[in-house]
Amino acid sequence: MTSPDSTQNKMEKITALCKRRGFVFAGSEIYGGFVGSFDYGPYGVELANNIKATWWEAMVQHERNIVGLDSAIVTHPKVWEASGHVGGFSDPMVECKECNTRSRADHLLEELNVFADEKMTIEEINTIFDANRDKLTCPKCGEKNFGVVRQFNLLAQTNLGNFSEDWSKEPAYLRGETCQGIYINFKNVLDTTRVKVPFGIAQIGKAFRNEIAPRQYIFRKREFEQMEMQMFVAPQEEMPVYDIWKAKRMQYYIDLGFKAENLRFHEHENLVFYAKAAFDIEYNFPFGFKELEGVHARGNYDLTQHQTFSGVSMEYSDPYTNEKYIPHVVETSVGLDRTFLAVMTEFYDEDTIGEESRIVLRLPKKLAPIKVAVFPLLRNRPELVQKAEEVFALVSKEMRAEFDDNGNVGKRYRRQDEIGTPHCVTIDFDTLGENPELLDTVTVRNRDTGTQERIAIAELVNYLK
Ligand code: GAP
Repeated sequence: MTSPDSTQNKMEKITALCKRRGFVFAGSEIYGGFVGSFDYGPYGVELANNIKATWWEAMVQHERNIVGLDSAIVTHPKVWEASGHVGGFSDPMVECKECNTRSRADHLLEELNVFADEKMTIEEINTIFDANRDKLTCPKCGEKNFGVVRQFNLLAQTNLGNFSEDWSKEPAYLRGETCQGIYINFKNVLDTTRVKVPFGIAQIGKAFRNEIAPRQYIFRKREFEQMEMQMFVAPQEEMPVYDIWKAKRMQYYIDLGFKAENLRFHEHENLVFYAKAAFDIEYNFPFGFKELEGVHARGNYDLTQHQTFSGVSMEYSDPYTNEKYIPHVVETSVGLDRTFLAVMTEFYDEDTIGEESRIVLRLPKKLAPIKVAVFPLLRNRPELVQKAEEVFALVSKEMRAEFDDNGNVGKRYRRQDEIGTPHCVTIDFDTLGENPELLDTVTVRNRDTGTQERIAIAELVNYLK
């Protein structure tokens, strides 16, 4: 088991690396920060884009019957009434009477190993909370003086397109999950493409939730990104298709290079009334196993709700059997930011090469922000710099590369190890023909082993690929 010290230590190391190397910055940092908001820096955006690309590859490119979508963030407000978010998308909030800090009641109880969740009624949660009051302390001031638990709606409002004085009476909403944009386009996709049920729609995009207590770095943010896929199936196919996707989504992480022991399924104890099954894929974050992804069998609730609220039929007519039904939905839903944190946790490592200790991100090549770094041995020798620029121009046409002539080569290696660059290429005097046998060859250094090989420039791109 990880001790609290080692937990904090690993988390601190990861956040320090993310800041130092330009992966993640605190949101609005020069203004003192903005709770629950983070910005991805130059290497962070590359890693995030690569994560999204692997997800898209697995969910759209490799699948014959899944297509993509990019729907609007702000939709007709009725979408969120139909989905149930306006009425019931809330978390149980409790305020400390001493310091006014607001906390999630279910999270406070979880620390005592007492189960409660947002699907319970507020009366049920208050009963459980009251039974444990004497043990519950405020995470900020440590006092045991909480108020009554209340439901707090997580939907964030906006006045986009609303010019009235008091727009909060008829607000539009920033989407609380991306899948609603998929449901409202179910008919459009069906009518304009060659898909037939069963088929899926995949989408990556921002979602917003007024999280009461955003915490654990980028694990729980107020503005975050989701990667969601909704598979539309015949009613009798829902559970078989569900089992397939449950297995496929677990395999996705294994294929990325995650250790199986750091992943596990967790079955929801309390299902919403329309759901048939819900499992989380949990990852072993530095603070323990927590939800990374949800795989849900949602019945035909979502399409039925949108049919009722919009008046547009969501019925599907099977071209082979002539059977008519509202398709059921199997959903896979994962946060990009949580995947990012899981990737940093999984591939962060420390070791020693020779006498020197180092931090190394052992990222799989397809996730690495920079695939290759190109160094002239010395920055004050124009002939080395010119040749290195030629090599950089060659490799950067094929992959994300970085040119670095700053500091000694050892320091440059350390910098690249910390951002997970699989290969570093050095142009030295042998490249220029000082040793005629090595003319037009370069040294390629491997991130994981520290070993070096001499490779002909003509072979370099193939070798790196
Ligand atoms: N459409 C279903 C849905 O949104 P969810 O369990 O509320 O289900 C799905 O969210 C995933 O989105 C979670 O497993 C998590 O990875 C991510 N997620 C949810 N809330 C988040 C937050 N506040 N910050 C970062 N990621 C979040």
